[in-house]
Amino acid sequence: MNGPVTIKNDSTMVDIKEIGIIGAGQMGSGIAHVASLAGYTVKLIDIDQGQLTKAVATIQRNMDRQVNRKKISAGDRDAAMVRITTGTDYGPLSNADLVIEAATENEETKRKIFQALCPTLRPDALIATNTSSISITRLASTTDRPHKFIGLHFMNPVPVMDLVELIRGIATDVPTFEAVKAVAVALGKTPAVSEDFPAFIVNRILLPMVNEAIYTLYEGVGSVEAIDTSMKLGARHPMGPLELADFIGLDTCLAIMQVLYEGLADSKYRPCPLLVKYVEAGWLGKKSGRGFYDYSGETPVPTR
Ligand code: 3HC
Repeated sequence: MNGPVTIKNDSTMVDIKEIGIIGAGQMGSGIAHVASLAGYTVKLIDIDQGQLTKAVATIQRNMDRQVNRKKISAGDRDAAMVRITTGTDYGPLSNADLVIEAATENEETKRKIFQALCPTLRPDALIATNTSSISITRLASTTDRPHKFIGLHFMNPVPVMDLVELIRGIATDVPTFEAVKAVAVALGKTPAVSEDFPAFIVNRILLPMVNEAIYTLYEGVGSVEAIDTSMKLGARHPMGPLELADFIGLDTCLAIMQVLYEGLADSKYRPCPLLVKYVEAGWLGKKSGRGFYDYSGETPVPTR
């Protein structure tokens, strides 16, 4: 296991030992999982106590699975679980060295979080956002420390996927970039640097493919099963695009397509009306029990 990281530079020393994570959804809990296993003290914050309880149970279950598959020892798991504490306000973040925001993909929500969070933080604390599409420069401008603000975009499932995207805002300084890059490496991830453009690299390429798969369904070119089988066996993707959409969350898929559509002002990014309809229906994919598949039984069943 890699340990916490100390970065020295000419102006400040950023000694990252304690990481705050805001949002205990699938990304926040995955980030808490890898950060605690890497030796960091983790403060996981969510306004919803029920969500925190669920997140801790998920982390425990996923670490149990890693123990069973001999990826980590039972001792590593137990020590990591002890390093995670939770809270429903920002008080526990008063001594955090780095806070990673992983709340819902909604700019207004994130703005409100940063405005409420900043007065609690130490002046030298760094802030990273796990946004999958929103401008880092714009989000940074809502904080009191744009130079200590950066994009750190994890992939789902966080414990399994090797990549993180690092995105500098216009004001992000070199010590912040280097410190957060070193944390990414300590978490066992390979960083890829992206410029601050809508949806960065992975989602700029991946989500239009997912959206096109939904158009393919919408236009009746193929069934859910035919589309997913085609891409799994015909393009060797680990998941079909519709299964992947359900896995990411259809609300998140729609939010990313809207950022691409509006941010790049190109009709080729128009979200498929069927995706919009599913989100309006509350069919958000795996997390809500229904999307392009129905998850209420033993195995997922295609809904079209
Ligand atoms: N925590 C820990 N380990 C996990 C895990 C989790 N949440 N989920 C799966 N695993 C592990 C399993 O234990 C297993 O380990 P092993 O190799 O030691 O046996 C391994 O991952 C494979 O899992 P399974 O055997 O259960 O299932 P699959 O072989 O079907 O793989 C998958 C599952 C890794 C999710 C694979 O289907 C996959 O890679 N899918 C594509 C995922 C993807 O594209 N993610 C990116 C989405 S885009 C994104 O996140 C950006 C965002 O902004 C939208």
